[in-house]
Amino acid sequence: MYLKCVFLALFLFVSHIAADDFEETLSHLKPKTTSKTQEDAVLGLIKRSIPNGYKFFLVKVDPNFGPSGKETFQVQKSTTGFVKIVGTTGVAAATGLNYYLKYYCNVQISWEFSQANYLPQNLPEIDVTITLNDRFRYYQNVCTTSYSFVWWQWEDWEKHIDWMALNSFNLILASTGQEAIWERTYKKFNLTQEDVDEHFTGPAFLSWLRMGNMRGWGGPLSSAWHERSIKLQKQILTRMRSFGMLAVLPAFAGHLPRAFKRIYPEAKMTKMDAWNDFNDTYCCPYLLEPTEALFIRIGEAFMKEVCRKKCAMPV
Ligand SMILES: *[C@@H]1O[C@H](CO)[C@@H](O)[C@H](O)[C@H]1NC(C)=O
Ligand SMILES: *[C@@H]1O[C@H](CO)[C@@H](O)[C@H](O)[C@H]1NC(C)=O
Repeated sequence: MYLKCVFLALFLFVSHIAADDFEETLSHLKPKTTSKTQEDAVLGLIKRSIPNGYKFFLVKVDPNFGPSGKETFQVQKSTTGFVKIVGTTGVAAATGLNYYLKYYCNVQISWEFSQANYLPQNLPEIDVTITLNDRFRYYQNVCTTSYSFVWWQWEDWEKHIDWMALNSFNLILASTGQEAIWERTYKKFNLTQEDVDEHFTGPAFLSWLRMGNMRGWGGPLSSAWHERSIKLQKQILTRMRSFGMLAVLPAFAGHLPRAFKRIYPEAKMTKMDAWNDFNDTYCCPYLLEPTEALFIRIGEAFMKEVCRKKCAMPV
């Protein structure tokens, strides 16, 4: 009963948050990419997605198009046969393209399959202007990293970021390569390579490492893996930002390798419970109390490494 009440209260509370209430704190979050770069990103997407018909599409990005503080797209077919797309951002323009493909051309582009080369011979007429309801369209959770993305190469990511843009996402987790940065951060706190190696899982289990469920399983991570991941993350961030997306970079949640207990015995930390019967070799890292001074020091050191080069993940 108590739980039900809490849920009801939570529901009532959440349902009272108007769509614009966070404008006060988050309205400054805007793409920094130029309109030209965003236009080029969408043209690139069209060329990749519709190799047979891309030359019939024109793209314009105009941040002042439509109502202020919102994102809007317009799709119009001109008498000369071109489909002209205007968007407040690259993402808004790509959303307009997808709107046209789905609802006027009856073709869909999904994660693994695209019908976009089966456009109708004569491109359908259209004259539509739509303002998107929400400023932020958030995408991804922490598990997808291991369930789906783990072995992806840049070609897979490229296709997927196109899909994100087509589906209007503009606030997106970008967690690739964070272990490379964690390794540097841990070493600043005097962990040895051995300490780091017994902590990191193999690539396929990173989601559960990051959530503090396990450690060491299938690990350690090689320096070749770190280099590859950092390179990939830079490509991912550059492409996301070229569409006018906002990438959500990782930060410190409190999970620590076991060695921190040895090096900082005075800091308050809790050993996690075993998860899914992983034994003591592979389970139970520590969780640092957020009130500890060490929490701020580690969080800060990690962010400094992440943001070493314009917050774009370090070299
Ligand atoms: C690492 O160890 C050195 C030498 O004991 C010490 O001076 C330094 O403060 C330690 N670093 C951190 C971040 O605790
Ligand atoms: C955990 O299991 C592995 C085998 O999967 C074994 O090598 C290791 O010694 C075990 N550790 C403990 C603490 O029982």
